[in-house]
Amino acid sequence: MTEPNYPTENVPSVPLEAAEAGSNLAMTLRFHEISEAEHRILNPYTEDKLRLLGEVCRLREGQRQLDLCCGKGEMLTTWSRDHGIGGVGVDISEVVLAAARQRAAELQVEDRVHFVLADAGTYRDDTAPYDLVSCIGATWIGGGPGGTIDLIRPMVRPQGLVLIGEPYWITPPTPGAEDAMGHGFTSLIGTVERFNAVGAELVELVMADHDSWDRYMAAQWWTASQWLRDHPDHPDHAGMQNFLDRSRTTYLVYGRRQFGWGVFVLRLTR
Ligand SMILES: C[S@@+](CC[C@H](N)C(=O)[O-])C[C@H]1O[C@@H](n2cnc3c(N)ncnc32)[C@H](O)[C@@H]1O
Repeated sequence: MTEPNYPTENVPSVPLEAAEAGSNLAMTLRFHEISEAEHRILNPYTEDKLRLLGEVCRLREGQRQLDLCCGKGEMLTTWSRDHGIGGVGVDISEVVLAAARQRAAELQVEDRVHFVLADAGTYRDDTAPYDLVSCIGATWIGGGPGGTIDLIRPMVRPQGLVLIGEPYWITPPTPGAEDAMGHGFTSLIGTVERFNAVGAELVELVMADHDSWDRYMAAQWWTASQWLRDHPDHPDHAGMQNFLDRSRTTYLVYGRRQFGWGVFVLRLTR
């Protein structure tokens, strides 16, 4: 294991207490909806990387995808336009689903792609199995990548693909890094071993990079900052300010240097 090559002293403090005071699930969801209002892709990918992922998945016309925690549906709608696939996106946020439906209409794929308001952790439908089942950036629905694959297993065809978008530690986390970025993540190879342990073989991957992470994170700061300027008396102002401060600090101190992210293309072996 390589040692982190930078100091951990003089790390600016993050107003954790204040951030956590409003950190119930609904508030966190709301802060993301605000800060990602201008985003179409709610993960550290650019449009090019999303397109590349579609190509490496060798999608074919008529295939069907189930996208759990689909966000604004950019993956399903653009892949439907580019490859002729259809499918279902599931999310718990009405705000992102409204954007997803609008995008489907804009790309004229609304007859092939549908969006459902539901908890992806318990979602089932009678049109399964799918050719492709994805969970990009939300494996908490299954308690981690292994549990999410177990949850997905009954909904994917035997020769189908599973796509998992997941962070990993580029270097072992420095003190404070896990508190800031989240507990339970592991190295890149450790992540792949977690897939292997539940019978999922890695067959392809497309990684985020510093620039694509910056587009995801830094673009949120502008949007959040503008919202704060436009809503000085809003009851969520203090919570949103803390969310923004924490987002900037955790990313600049820890995330940008230590956290990687990619979408892992998997085939089930059992
Ligand atoms: C990091 S975003 C990723 C969105 C999308 N997969 C993408 O990559 O653009 C996580 C998404 O998960 C949704 N979400 C969180 N918990 C959920 C749950 N239990 N069931 C369904 N959606 C959930 C959020 O509303 C949000 O849209």
